[in-house]
Amino acid sequence: MPMNRFEGKVAVITGGAKGIGAACAARLAAEGAAVYVTDVDEEAGERIARETSGVRFHRADASSGADWTALHDKVISAHGRLDVLVSNAFASVNGAPHELSEPDWDRTHDVTLKAAYLGVKACIGPLREARGAVVAVSSVHAHRSLKGYTAYAAAKGGLNALVRQLAVEYAPHVRCNSVSPGPIRTTHWADTSEEDIVRAGDATLVGRVGRADEVATAVAYLASDEAGYITGVDLPVDGGWLTLKHAL
Ligand SMILES: NC(=O)c1ccc[n+]([C@@H]2O[C@H](COP(=O)([O-])OP(=O)(O)OC[C@H]3O[C@@H](n4cnc5c(N)ncnc54)[C@H](O)[C@@H]3O)[C@@H](O)[C@H]2O)c1
Repeated sequence: MPMNRFEGKVAVITGGAKGIGAACAARLAAEGAAVYVTDVDEEAGERIARETSGVRFHRADASSGADWTALHDKVISAHGRLDVLVSNAFASVNGAPHELSEPDWDRTHDVTLKAAYLGVKACIGPLREARGAVVAVSSVHAHRSLKGYTAYAAAKGGLNALVRQLAVEYAPHVRCNSVSPGPIRTTHWADTSEEDIVRAGDATLVGRVGRADEVATAVAYLASDEAGYITGVDLPVDGGWLTLKHAL
């Protein structure tokens, strides 16, 4: 059944040039939104804007306050409104604490966590006016600990706490929620062997890795008025990964 839940609305998606962000952009645009994809990958960003009706690309580093101000000004001067903010960009450097450099810790936190704060700080005015929605793309790593994910897990755990806090700060005008994807086959998995992808799928109840569009479906729902009574929650989109007890 075709849906037009975002007709006349404007959305910003960070890290939207590829993967889950690109799927969110395609979904929101297909449902009528004017979508601003922001990313540091200009080639991929310009490609998605060329190939997807309703999507524009604006180069912005999600961890830069100055880039957020420029993006806000551009969107508001073009449309006079902003309804949806999807905070999806991330960075991750793996390692146990003693293996991680301080700059790697900072970079992971700046793009994965601080960016969500900066985005809301820059855009809360129009989001409030529109009675809009914020959706952050978190991770199952916010809920379960796997070796090596020190900085990423801490940043995603912080992101979930931040989203709950945002829901409280900006109620009742802006609903704020997150999704926690499990293993989703995106460009991020480009170097992963087929064997490891099958193994990742076996760790879910559904028995396969997920697709970016399956996360986009959940993001679009939480961003839409259909979710008008939902705020401050985290929705796992993980094929049951969090439910299944994993053997050690
Ligand atoms: N793929 C998975 O299995 C999985 C699982 C759990 C959570 N996630 C989360 O989903 C989100 C998207 O991941 P993905 O798998 O689509 O990754 P991806 O690598 O395919 O896409 C991430 C995008 O973010 C962009 N980006 C990186 N740094 C940026 C910055 N500073 N400013 C703006 N954009 C920047 C990249 O250029 C890229 O286009 C992330 O938040 C990730 O943590 C992914």
